[in-house]
Amino acid sequence: MALTQLQINHVRNLRQVRLQGLQRVNVFFGSNGSGKTSVLESIHLLGMARSFRGTSIKSLITHDTPMCTVFGVAARLPGEGVPGPSGLPMGVQRSRNGEAQIKIGGKPVRTVAELATHLPLQVITAESFGLLTGPPVGRRQYLDWGVFHVEQQFFGQWQRFQRCIKQRNNLLRRGKIDDRELAVWTRDLAQTGEAIHSYRKNYFQMLSPRFKEIMASLAPSLNQLELRYKRGWDRQLSYLDALQHGYSADTEQGYTHSGPQRADVRVLSGGHLAAETLSRGQQKLVVCGLKLAQGQLMAQLGTRGKCTYLIDDLPSELDHEHSMLVCGLLDSMDAQVFITCIGQEEIRSVWPQTGELTLFHVEQGTVRRHCAA
Ligand SMILES: Nc1ncnc2c1ncn2[C@@H]1O[C@H](COP(=O)(O)OP(=O)(O)OP(=O)(O)O)[C@@H](O)[C@H]1O
Ligand SMILES: [Mg+2]
Repeated sequence: MALTQLQINHVRNLRQVRLQGLQRVNVFFGSNGSGKTSVLESIHLLGMARSFRGTSIKSLITHDTPMCTVFGVAARLPGEGVPGPSGLPMGVQRSRNGEAQIKIGGKPVRTVAELATHLPLQVITAESFGLLTGPPVGRRQYLDWGVFHVEQQFFGQWQRFQRCIKQRNNLLRRGKIDDRELAVWTRDLAQTGEAIHSYRKNYFQMLSPRFKEIMASLAPSLNQLELRYKRGWDRQLSYLDALQHGYSADTEQGYTHSGPQRADVRVLSGGHLAAETLSRGQQKLVVCGLKLAQGQLMAQLGTRGKCTYLIDDLPSELDHEHSMLVCGLLDSMDAQVFITCIGQEEIRSVWPQTGELTLFHVEQGTVRRHCAA
């Protein structure tokens, strides 16, 4: 499934944009401030009900308007096997007060998870370095994105884990702790925490070799790249034992110290943290490798089809040769891609000659299909 139509209302400077006939590789080009990133943000809004820029929802809504809406249709692209019926309509509306209304197939849905299952997104932007240089939470989210899309039971366990840890921390913060009640939450937390770890570990074992393979073609000179998964507690212990060992620290400080909420994926180059040794361009390649590995794995496992890539300013930080390698891999994956750049030549010159690009010119909040002369 791919996004074949898109309607954007009041996302930043995009007051009213209608795009039909979206294809596999869609390129949005235009000058600074024209609205290119906002197009990608709109697609992200449709798949995740929020922006990827980490800004408030208010900043996403066009000034002086109360809400923004994105509507899209997910369907098979022409030439992609048997054409589906008319496709699956999806819509997201966000108001300034934070309210969200989500509809899939004309019916209201309550969770963003449902959106994400229909439109799995991978984002690569100038800020994606944060995956390497930022705190572990970003890498956990990265890992969980993959687990969520390949393991149906994961989301339920994750929700259970969040509930348990919240309850346990609430108890730990109380002045006088009821040990029996704490033991109940500790047991439940240990169970669900082990389940989360086991899903993550299985997924990681599939992801890691895939990442290495991709990096071997993207950056053969970085031949000592390695991913390491950290579960969030001493690997010699069961989670229950780790929680019991941590009892004094947890009760003294009023929160649970160890567990899947502390997990991490370390990216090492020659045994050193990639964030501390690699150049900016090399870091961007590693981030691309991480994200492409997830997309490939998802397509291979076939649980939810292929994911859609949103790539803001692909050539930034990458030299010509490496941009070509990334584009070659993207093209070979046959996934739907939305890319932005300033001038169309930037992408034309690095995308494989055999690949077809659908171009859109973005100009002061308007988006028009661009037909090459
Ligand atoms: N809430 C808002 N309401 C109206 N306009 C906004 C809002 N937020 C941002 N803008 C404007 O929207 C425009 C589009 O921003 P966007 O980041 O999409 O541009 P861009 O084409 O990606 O530019 P660049 O090439 O610099 O990355 C900018 O001119 C920005 O000032
Ligand atoms: Mg931009």
